[in-house]
Amino acid sequence: MANLTINGHSYFVDTEPDTPLLWVIREELQLTGTKFGCGAGLCGSCTVHVDGQAVRSCLTTVADVEGSMITTIEGLHHADAHPVQKAWIEKQVPQCGYCQSGQIMQAAAFIARNPSPTNEEIVDAMDGNLCRCATYSRIVDAVRRAAEIAQEAENA
Ligand code: FES
Ligand code: FES
Repeated sequence: MANLTINGHSYFVDTEPDTPLLWVIREELQLTGTKFGCGAGLCGSCTVHVDGQAVRSCLTTVADVEGSMITTIEGLHHADAHPVQKAWIEKQVPQCGYCQSGQIMQAAAFIARNPSPTNEEIVDAMDGNLCRCATYSRIVDAVRRAAEIAQEAENA
């Protein structure tokens, strides 16, 4: 039995300590916004936040995150209006959509630690999140725009 804090809620889950967090999120808790891609840390579609850091939930075990604050795409903003989500809509980033929750979680953690990123820094930060539909140029635009939206909100 493990006690996990996800999106501000406490969950007791009947699972082994070495179970990947991704399995618990999707199968036990039915938080299916987080996607399974490669299962090997190579694609980023399973990205969630652990204590504000973007992590690959397919490679993170339940034992790794007991006592941490876990956030999935469902908990990023109570009204789906995080600056990254706003920018993603404004820039119409998704194509098939499969990789997008991982992209958004990666971007949100990135701009939290780098509020005024250069294009190069954005490309570097998003490098490990793959998109088979090749929405990469819109992703870079949207991350830059998300940083602007966050700054505007702070200055308002
Ligand atoms: S499913 Fe976790 S990195 Fe691909
Ligand atoms: S939008 Fe289709 S994989 Fe990224």
